[in-house]
Amino acid sequence: MSVTPIAASSLNAERVSERVLAHLERGLALPGDLYTDPALFAEEMRAVFQRQWVYAGHVSQLANAGDFLTVDVGGQSVIVSRDRAGELHGLVNVCRHRGTLIVDTPCGNVRNFVCPYHQWAYAPDGTLRGAPRMPAGFDREQYPLKRVHTGVWNGLVFVNHSPGEVDDLGALLEAPDELMAPFDIASARVAHTEVYEVAANWKLVWENSQECYHCNANHPEFIKTFDMKAFVADDDSFSLTFSGDRRMQCATFPLRSGAVSLTMTGQPASRQLLGRFGSGLAPYTAAAHLKPGFASVFSPDYGIVFMDVPKSFDRTEVRVQWLVAPGAEAGVDYDVENLKRVWDQTNRQDWALCQSVQRGVASPDFEPGPLSLDEQSVAGFYHSYATMMAAAGL
Ligand code: FES
Ligand SMILES: [Fe+2]
Repeated sequence: MSVTPIAASSLNAERVSERVLAHLERGLALPGDLYTDPALFAEEMRAVFQRQWVYAGHVSQLANAGDFLTVDVGGQSVIVSRDRAGELHGLVNVCRHRGTLIVDTPCGNVRNFVCPYHQWAYAPDGTLRGAPRMPAGFDREQYPLKRVHTGVWNGLVFVNHSPGEVDDLGALLEAPDELMAPFDIASARVAHTEVYEVAANWKLVWENSQECYHCNANHPEFIKTFDMKAFVADDDSFSLTFSGDRRMQCATFPLRSGAVSLTMTGQPASRQLLGRFGSGLAPYTAAAHLKPGFASVFSPDYGIVFMDVPKSFDRTEVRVQWLVAPGAEAGVDYDVENLKRVWDQTNRQDWALCQSVQRGVASPDFEPGPLSLDEQSVAGFYHSYATMMAAAGL
């Protein structure tokens, strides 16, 4: 018996959250229409991405006064900037005059943000500094750029577009604090960035990143060092922890005997080690994820940070950064191609799988099948997704 009738739109049937929970209870994957409905996608941007903490970038990208970067938060453009006093600000990237995007570049440095249309000028803290030829009585103080919440965890900058109170970022990420502290992520720097376009729904991309049921068959480079046997046996070398209503998940990664880093050889790809590993701390690899779109994995010599940016119901941009120790020099301490090889190959293999799933779940013949023992993190995602959607009445 099929659990879920296919509705014309996922929003016309019973609540999405209830449908998800019904599938979760039966241990089933989700119905195809949840991945193929533009109207549902629009609701998800409001209910999920504009209500949760979304990764924006690393503090090293905002080192100086006037540095800024832009980030897509559920389809809304947000600026993160550093002001002259050193404070970070999250600003809605929409001019208070007639709505032009203030900046249209991924990052840069400004003295003031100057709107390209009629030249209203805003300081890096969002206050309006100049507005030419406005009538008498115009009060600049009434028109600062609108603000969003910002938070920093271990040097990783997050924004939250939610209009009201937001969950405390530090509390959400408290569980992995101890696990990730030795990497001293805050003092690292971005060695390389890659932006991947994936023709798949954001939920498929996230689900794929949460399970390794597919790893043996699809990721020859990854399993050179990732110990699938220990992972499947679920022994102490793989300690999965959930918190924050399962939005946060962290784990140590089991590596094969002799391997000290997730690289092609198991040996460090960078000669300069991160944080306390540089002074002899025993090596380990660990991951911390925060739904809906942030994932990170750190080995003693480098880390990788993923940011999933949904673009449409069947398109997701995945922005990936490789981080190294602050003093590590390209061409001297590491070779970029070697640094990124395992994850770049693994990513491309994953995107091909996600794209194939996107096509498959769009078929009227698709009927959600049962999840395996190795997909409990996918079930964890369904749970978080249902909770977030239910909170928005969906
Ligand atoms: S829209 Fe920005 S100055 Fe007019
Ligand atoms: Fe994968």
